[in-house]
Amino acid sequence: MKIGISNLKGGVGKTTISQNLAVGLAHIGYKVCIVDTDRNQNSIAWVGERDNDLPNILAVGITDPKALNKMIDQLDADHDFIIIDGTPSLGEMTTRVILASDLLLIPILPSGHDIRSMQLFFERYEQAKEFKEDIPAYFFINQYSENIKLHQSTKELLGDFGIGMLETKFNRRVAYAETSITGQGVYEYNDEKAKAEVVSLTKEVLEIASQLGFL
Ligand SMILES: Nc1ncnc2c1ncn2[C@@H]1O[C@H](COP(=O)(O)OP(=O)(O)OP(=O)(O)O)[C@@H](O)[C@H]1O
Ligand SMILES: [Mg+2]
Repeated sequence: MKIGISNLKGGVGKTTISQNLAVGLAHIGYKVCIVDTDRNQNSIAWVGERDNDLPNILAVGITDPKALNKMIDQLDADHDFIIIDGTPSLGEMTTRVILASDLLLIPILPSGHDIRSMQLFFERYEQAKEFKEDIPAYFFINQYSENIKLHQSTKELLGDFGIGMLETKFNRRVAYAETSITGQGVYEYNDEKAKAEVVSLTKEVLEIASQLGFL
């Protein structure tokens, strides 16, 4: 199954979610690969830092949008999950990622600015749906704050897009930033609350995968 993590907005957590979902799935025993489509190749560097005794995750870098499909088809043969870490670049890649995904997760930060700037991404998503009707997609709130008012307005603004929202959220936690350097997922780190968030995300994604007929 191919899961795209995409948003044209930079710094919303595409890479953080890709890596932590990959770790969550790998600890269950699935064979997981991250396809890194961003020029900065963060996920490639992160895999390079992983200890040998942690579950293996392959990372493959690709920046030519025209080569994406072929690469993914090759990887699909011997992986249970391919997680596509998206790029904020305005080029063709984001449309390709959307079209290549069996499930799309769209990380967003709970701020009005970020949500309004979703329009550009949403236009891509709608264009892609002209080629492929059914592209299941969910928003994923990252760097969540307990501020209920903010959360309510986030929900209202997002409601306009007609896309569902995962129940799991990642709070803002040092663990996510730390592990981006150490090659770990927070599942492999000493923050139980962060770990619980990743367990919940993994479970929710597997439920959706099952509903969509992939498991
Ligand atoms: N929940 C979180 N708590 C704390 N820090 C976070 C969290 N999510 C992401 N970060 C940090 O925020 C920064 C941006 O996150 P990340 O690199 O995952 O975003 P991105 O969408 O992949 O960015 P880009 O568009 O540049 O690829 C990173 O330094 C990351 O460690
Ligand atoms: Mg990134």
